[in-house]
Amino acid sequence: MTQQCIQCKARYPLTQVLYTCAACNDLLEIISDAPARNDFGGAGVWRYAPLLPADSRRAVTLGEGATGLHRCDRLAAELGLAALHVKNEGENPTGSFKDRGMTVGMTHARTLGVQSVACASTGNTSAALAAYAARAGLRAVVLIPGGKVALGKLAQAIVHNARIVQINGNFDDAMRLVHELSSSNAGVYLLNSINPFRLEGQKTAAFEICEALGDAPETLVLPLGNAGNISAYWKGFREFRAAGLIKRLPRMIGVQAAGAAPIAEFLRGQRTDCRMDDPNTIATAIRIGAPVSWKKALAAIRDSGGDAVTVTDDEILAAQRKLAATEGLFVEPSSAAPIAWLLREKPQIAGPVVAVATGNGLKDPDAVLSAKPVLLQSEATMDGLRRVLEL
Ligand SMILES: Cc1ncc(COP(=O)(O)O)c(C=O)c1O
Ligand SMILES: [Zn+2]
Repeated sequence: MTQQCIQCKARYPLTQVLYTCAACNDLLEIISDAPARNDFGGAGVWRYAPLLPADSRRAVTLGEGATGLHRCDRLAAELGLAALHVKNEGENPTGSFKDRGMTVGMTHARTLGVQSVACASTGNTSAALAAYAARAGLRAVVLIPGGKVALGKLAQAIVHNARIVQINGNFDDAMRLVHELSSSNAGVYLLNSINPFRLEGQKTAAFEICEALGDAPETLVLPLGNAGNISAYWKGFREFRAAGLIKRLPRMIGVQAAGAAPIAEFLRGQRTDCRMDDPNTIATAIRIGAPVSWKKALAAIRDSGGDAVTVTDDEILAAQRKLAATEGLFVEPSSAAPIAWLLREKPQIAGPVVAVATGNGLKDPDAVLSAKPVLLQSEATMDGLRRVLEL
């Protein structure tokens, strides 16, 4: 396997530390000249070790992957869908899909022999980076947008002993700074999703879906922020198809929040490029104005006949409650964005639809409590209890 530029196709060895192409500065991806074979074993991310650019025997792991693909018939009936499955990535060790990328990225970091790893984060990446760095015995540095990280995610970065820097700016500012820091300081290894090793781990979610369904779904819907995950899924589906392990490729639908929708707006001709200033949404995980992997995401959307779409914050919160109350799945606001889009559009899709729930709802309890839910009150008596329950 080698690293290859998506634009000029320059190749670099796996052990060369680069975050973008040295020749043209575009994004890198990992490519393999050997066709994939179905010689997988075990469960989780490392089941797919033959398709990963890291040594599974030295894996920095917390048992990530092998998350549930939950068939949601009640919700599907409301939506008029033949079959809806939710891939619940909140079941990962730190509660989000980032663990898949981090196990591979951190394993590579250890192979490189670096002392420190770093990221910019809307919260989940910092939680995963901090946990896996602790596991690997490495120092973790995380840059977060001041005041805009959900409570549970911040608690995770703190408890795993990361050095946390609140930036007086947004995620895009933090991303720019950490990229510059790691590019100018060889001792600090960048583990954002611009790092192609991260996306290699994340592609395994697509493999799991294909193995569970026997083929790719007809449509995959997922939240779209920095655009790493949609790129990783698309790479995973293409690799399985190239290996003859599935017959079709899914349509890829990325869902952005209406206040942070540079890619959706670009596709509608409302912007000249995939970036905007001052993104805003209650779904803080996808509060991103300058998605680093926009070019890979556009390829996934265009090549799959997909789209980037938007939902409002109110639609996101309603979908979060709907999914939790109807199917028992409590996801964080950004993870409810795909459900919000399905609820509003009720698209006619004959085959299976998979909605990716990227993060656990417990990470951001404020989002639920901000709706000021009414809690019943009772004296500590049976009479009092019967009265409030009206039973
Ligand atoms: C819960 C959650 N969903 C979705 C995303 C967006 O993923 P990506 O940035 O790879 O597009 C993130 C990114 O932080 C996230 O934490
Ligand atoms: Zn290049």
